[in-house]
Amino acid sequence: MTHRLGSLCDEHYPPPRSIQQSAHVKSMEEYRLLYEESISQPEKFWKKLAENLYFKDPPGSGEDFLNYNFDANAGPISIQWMRTSSTNICYNALDYNVEKGLGDKVAFYWEGNHPNDEASITYQALLEEVCKFSNVLLKLGVKKGDKVAICLPMVVELVIAMLACTRIGAIHSIVFGGFSAGSLAERITDAKCTIIITADGVWRGKKLIHLKAIVDDAIERCVKAGFPVNQCVVLKHLPRVTSAVDVGVGNDISQVGWKQDRDLWWHDIMKDASPKCPVEWINGEDPLFMLFTSGSTGKPKGVMHTLAGYMLYSWATFKYSFDYQEDDVFWCTADIGWITGHTYVTYGPLLNGSTSVLFEGVPYYPDPGRFWAVIDKYKVSKFYTSPTAIRTLMKHGEAEVRKYSRSSLKILATVGEPINPEAWHWYNHVVGEDRCPIVDTFWQTETGGHVITPLPGATVTKPGSATFPFFGVVPAILDDNGAELSGECEGFLVFKKPWPGIMRTVYGDHERFERTYFRKFPGYYCTGDGARRDKDGYIWVTGRIDDMLNVSGHLLSTAEVESALVEDPCVAEAAAVAHPHPIKGECLYCFVTPVDGIPYTDKLEKELRDKVREKIGPFAVPDYLQYAPSLPKTRSGKIMRRILRKIAQSDPDLGDTSTLADESIVVLLQKNRVATA
Ligand code: WT7
Repeated sequence: MTHRLGSLCDEHYPPPRSIQQSAHVKSMEEYRLLYEESISQPEKFWKKLAENLYFKDPPGSGEDFLNYNFDANAGPISIQWMRTSSTNICYNALDYNVEKGLGDKVAFYWEGNHPNDEASITYQALLEEVCKFSNVLLKLGVKKGDKVAICLPMVVELVIAMLACTRIGAIHSIVFGGFSAGSLAERITDAKCTIIITADGVWRGKKLIHLKAIVDDAIERCVKAGFPVNQCVVLKHLPRVTSAVDVGVGNDISQVGWKQDRDLWWHDIMKDASPKCPVEWINGEDPLFMLFTSGSTGKPKGVMHTLAGYMLYSWATFKYSFDYQEDDVFWCTADIGWITGHTYVTYGPLLNGSTSVLFEGVPYYPDPGRFWAVIDKYKVSKFYTSPTAIRTLMKHGEAEVRKYSRSSLKILATVGEPINPEAWHWYNHVVGEDRCPIVDTFWQTETGGHVITPLPGATVTKPGSATFPFFGVVPAILDDNGAELSGECEGFLVFKKPWPGIMRTVYGDHERFERTYFRKFPGYYCTGDGARRDKDGYIWVTGRIDDMLNVSGHLLSTAEVESALVEDPCVAEAAAVAHPHPIKGECLYCFVTPVDGIPYTDKLEKELRDKVREKIGPFAVPDYLQYAPSLPKTRSGKIMRRILRKIAQSDPDLGDTSTLADESIVVLLQKNRVATA
């Protein structure tokens, strides 16, 4: 087949015969039958799948199996799956697999940031470490229902810490190590964690990140805000990595700030812990974990997932979307600090008894061939990464890829943002040599697992389309008035029914949960994304339609960035808009109005970039800042970001400008537009 870029909508890629033959779902007819059943008889469908997992008290029937209200006009939104069941996700991920004879199977190959650094751990060994850490947590006074903050690099101890929480019924709240102290503090206090687990530091590429220093700063901020974090467990990671040994840092404790009555070394408290720990049987609808995601207004939301539904859904999506087979070596490159890592580094793979790679590094260190080197080293068969990583590596050319055999690869998957056809083709043709199905999985922190995705043995794919709904998911596309569109159409992407993995609430703010996802279109869960349906029924997610943007697969709200900018005493007003970026997908273009009498200078620009880095994190730093003597507003004073987006993209067609209070500012901003890549 030859590939032509350009008008691609009608290009079709059927599943390769080799994948299809042994796949769990082998054809579209088979998919449709299963899908129909999952919608018309959800209890029957999901109960059969639940038989693959262990429940101490069974999933239940009727309303006990599934009970929900999706209609904000009919009362409070509530979603319950298997509410009278009891189970434990750690038991299912570890004990149950060991009992089935997988004790000696490798659970994770750990590949460090430096190619010299590697380790592996079996299911049996992981179980023992998890039990030890569960005992440690119990000894520190952590009880069922308590919240534990975790801020660790991509090391096996991160998986150990999260599983230990779930074993004893504690709720983990994992915060990505790339956040600033301020963002970290905000998340720890909002989640009401009193204990945090972290590490001395970590290398990311050539850069050393002093994690403990960031955490110390964050804890101080929590305490100042009247919120006591009185225990901090610290993993000594640096002394065991090559980069630290090479430059002689890591062993010197004086480099790690230490608070005697608060800080504990991981290795000290683990030393005498018993490798056996009983499982706490937990109700199916009890909280499992929370994970923060950006909100289009105000502070980040603590997305709450509960036990039984999330467990079943992460097991099922891993098995079907990646067509899991026993001899697979699976690699998801996402950090566990994001939902992708929760569901497809930790829970999905372990619940299926799979062997996976846990990667600490970055795609371009020590060189841009690293991904393919790791794939060859561990004979990775299923690979899951982001469009932004693909675009970064594309830039370095095909030769970097062709140096490696990649012959073990069977399926290539992506997540995080719409994949542009050019990147899709490169992934398919250069990386996969046209023999691996491309699985473009659409989902969100809120959905728990894939909601729109091809099944690799069944679905005929089209480059750039996430294709069809996963089992139990009923998508619809709505117009501005909330009417369902049929046939070929474009509008708001919503879901009509709950699937087991959907979030249950925003932690501590159920009202916000209802307002954010269910009030705009009563009766539907609103994703915040736009989508198009083509003549063959394929769904094409087109991107966010709210004031959110997606930088390298990380969601950010423009409000979050604006509030960081206006915190600077020199800034009167600021407006941030999403702007297309060749590698990151989207980046930030910000318009800044200084306070009267303050000049707009390079120094101010640098200060503002530092401010955003410090307030939110490095990934949020704006690519472009433009001086704005004032901002285009409606007569009622609302900033018209729609117009600012067009100005940033030098699109002369501004659309309807009749509500603008003052048109002259638009002309001025157009004239002084900053050149973009
Ligand atoms: C937003 C969710 C869930 C994993 C990572 C991000 C965008 C995600 C796709 C895809 C088009 C996608 C959407 C979504 N998104 N995957 N395959 N095609 N868009 O999780 O931070 O909760 O972000 O990412 O805009 O709403 P998240």
